[in-house]
Amino acid sequence: MDYFELIAQRESCRNFTEKAVEQEKLVRCIEAARIAPSACNSQPWSFVLVNGGTLAPKTAKCLQSLGMNKFTDRCPTFVVVLEEKATLSAKLGGKVKDQHYAPIDIGIAAAHLCLAATAQGLSSCIMGWFDEKKLKNLLSIPQNKRIRLVVGIGYAADDKLREKKRKPLEQILTFAEE
Ligand SMILES: Cc1cc2nc3c(=O)[nH]c(=O)nc-3n(C[C@H](O)[C@H](O)[C@H](O)COP(=O)(O)O)c2cc1C
Repeated sequence: MDYFELIAQRESCRNFTEKAVEQEKLVRCIEAARIAPSACNSQPWSFVLVNGGTLAPKTAKCLQSLGMNKFTDRCPTFVVVLEEKATLSAKLGGKVKDQHYAPIDIGIAAAHLCLAATAQGLSSCIMGWFDEKKLKNLLSIPQNKRIRLVVGIGYAADDKLREKKRKPLEQILTFAEE
């Protein structure tokens, strides 16, 4: 699949089938995230894979406060994305430039991961709405770490793509002039 076809095919899936996801496909998704770029090559991330079993429905419950993310009850797999310590150079660079690079890096890695899922016929949904404390307890993640994202992965029940609702290009693009 050509890159532009791939990014057009990726959409957030909220209707998964029960079909289990092959572990090797998931490892390829993490491999795609692993080679993502990051500030000073700091790679401030790690991934916890919840693939099926009794942990997947328990993970889903950690994403559902205030009636959100109910669809995750039918999501067979989750990748929990943790922020790890940045390297000294990335931290220093961020301080000098008043930037926090780690969440930016993690967003890029998550994009790599989701596109790798699409390339293998899987669907995904990035989620930023979760009960962090509950999830850490469930997965034995130390309380001092931050969970930045959870990505649901599975096979879509429906392969019809939605129209992409986005701001028009004219609104987001300006051509710098001298
Ligand atoms: C950081 C982040 C957090 C998100 N959190 C959620 C979420 O908790 N639940 C959900 O259903 N979708 C979530 N999404 C998916 C967005 O709603 C979705 O990407 C956006 O509406 C564009 O639609 P598309 O992904 O289908 O192209 C999140 C996406 C991002 C990037």
